[in-house]
Amino acid sequence: MRNLLLLFALAAFTAVEANRFRQEFPGPYCAARKYDSCCRDRQDGCAQPISTTLCYCDEFCERGEHGDCCPDYEEVCLGIVAGPDNATSCVHKNHYFTPYDPVIVDNCNTCKCNLDGSVICTDDVCMVDEDLLRQLGHLHRSLGWSATNYTEWWGRKYDEGKVLRLGTFQPKHRVKAMKRLSNKGGSLPSRFDASEHWTGLIAEARDQGWCGSSWAFSTATMASDRFAILSKGREMVQLAPQQMLACVRRQRGCSGGHLDSAWQYVRKNGMVNEECYPYIAAQNVCKVHEDDTLITANCELPVKVNRTHLYKMGPAYSLNNETDIMTEIKDRGTVQALMRVYRDFFSYRGGIYRHSAAATPAEERSAYHSVRLIGWGEERVGYEVVKYWIAINSWGQWWGENGRFRILRGVNECEIESYVLAANPYVHEHVQTVRNVGELQELIVGTGYVPHPSRRYPPYGRG
Ligand SMILES: *[C@@H]1O[C@H](CO)[C@@H](O)[C@H](O)[C@H]1NC(C)=O
Ligand SMILES: *[C@@H]1O[C@H](CO)[C@@H](O)[C@H](O)[C@H]1NC(C)=O
Ligand SMILES: *[C@@H]1O[C@H](CO)[C@@H](O)[C@H](O)[C@H]1NC(C)=O
Ligand SMILES: *[C@@H]1O[C@H](CO)[C@@H](O)[C@H](O)[C@H]1NC(C)=O
Repeated sequence: MRNLLLLFALAAFTAVEANRFRQEFPGPYCAARKYDSCCRDRQDGCAQPISTTLCYCDEFCERGEHGDCCPDYEEVCLGIVAGPDNATSCVHKNHYFTPYDPVIVDNCNTCKCNLDGSVICTDDVCMVDEDLLRQLGHLHRSLGWSATNYTEWWGRKYDEGKVLRLGTFQPKHRVKAMKRLSNKGGSLPSRFDASEHWTGLIAEARDQGWCGSSWAFSTATMASDRFAILSKGREMVQLAPQQMLACVRRQRGCSGGHLDSAWQYVRKNGMVNEECYPYIAAQNVCKVHEDDTLITANCELPVKVNRTHLYKMGPAYSLNNETDIMTEIKDRGTVQALMRVYRDFFSYRGGIYRHSAAATPAEERSAYHSVRLIGWGEERVGYEVVKYWIAINSWGQWWGENGRFRILRGVNECEIESYVLAANPYVHEHVQTVRNVGELQELIVGTGYVPHPSRRYPPYGRG
């Protein structure tokens, strides 16, 4: 009954494999036999237990692929010693390899086996790793949100994630101090979700891909939302982030951009729609020019309104504080928020986000991003009422809560309340005036492209 079920095929091994085999099952086996270490011909009793079976030290064990010799048979019975060069084998996290094997990949790092048997790995911080996931798992309850291991992030360096998955620069002080708008208070509901209030008019999460273009996505999607809202669905347009990526000057394309320049561009130049300028997650040559119309830019014209002009927005203004932001969202639609991103945010799966101690590293470990705030709510957790914002990210709908996330509200978590922008669209003049939605909207809607809302809300910076 010897044989068919055998573990090993020593004879077929290369020297390297044989060496690995010996490392995995260090023996001794034949050498440990009491009377005769090695036996002639076939002797089924000339065996030693190994793992869950037996290995043999008789000559019969050498049968090509079906051999069942013990790991030390060659050395003990035949006197063959592996050459010193090829005797080297390294082990890294239970994985055996030699200096002759290709490097092995361990998450975002690679490891090589040195001739002296030591292993050297690159030492980059990965977007996610076992330690972070384990810590977030332990902290789950106290944090109020859960984490998951996204395949998309595994194997990527954190530096790569910070540049290519975010991409909004922190505003300069001068710009930060721009005109702020104070909304008249009034009672605010305890929860509000723009996508329920204006059903079908709020853009869901898109995926910026591996391109640091959140500055272009948050700007274009917020502008699109506001066109749809203010026109009551007549101007449902998906404005093209690609146009910004290609055309806004003094930005760094997929390496990031400033929100103020983005808004200045939308105000002065105007935007075309996605179909006319599809997103490719890379910078390309700008094909929309300042005096273009939708016709000269070769875009299809919308069917519901007689628009030929590009889609322009009035000047951006910033919101002061929590209640101002809430009033703005409720009265006029989604807003754009700058946000500081820590490493744990990438692994967010659901719940109310706050950055954790697991990811509170040095300053350079965080970077800025921009997202849309579309509403708010509150949730009772034990005796505590936790207030949150509802936000839409630009990492696709596979991330977070269908592309969205909730984050603590009222405590400037991740600086999310420190730089919140809004702007109003020049909807087409044929859209009917909406009487009961607030002064600013009447002003814009009632008069088409002019007068400029900047008469009420002075523009950003010097623009
Ligand atoms: C070591 O193994 C490699 C490939 O397995 C072989 O090309 C080389 O000649 C061997 N070197 C020695 C010293 O045996
Ligand atoms: C995370 O997922 C990747 C593949 O998607 C897998 O290779 C890796 O082992 C997982 N890591 C942990 C810690 O679960
Ligand atoms: C927000 O700012 C406005 C004025 O800009 C002020 O009336 C209001 O009380 C502030 N709200 C909070 C919560 O600080
Ligand atoms: C559409 O707009 C163009 C130019 O803006 C104008 O010449 C044309 O008469 C308009 N058509 C309709 C049906 O309003």
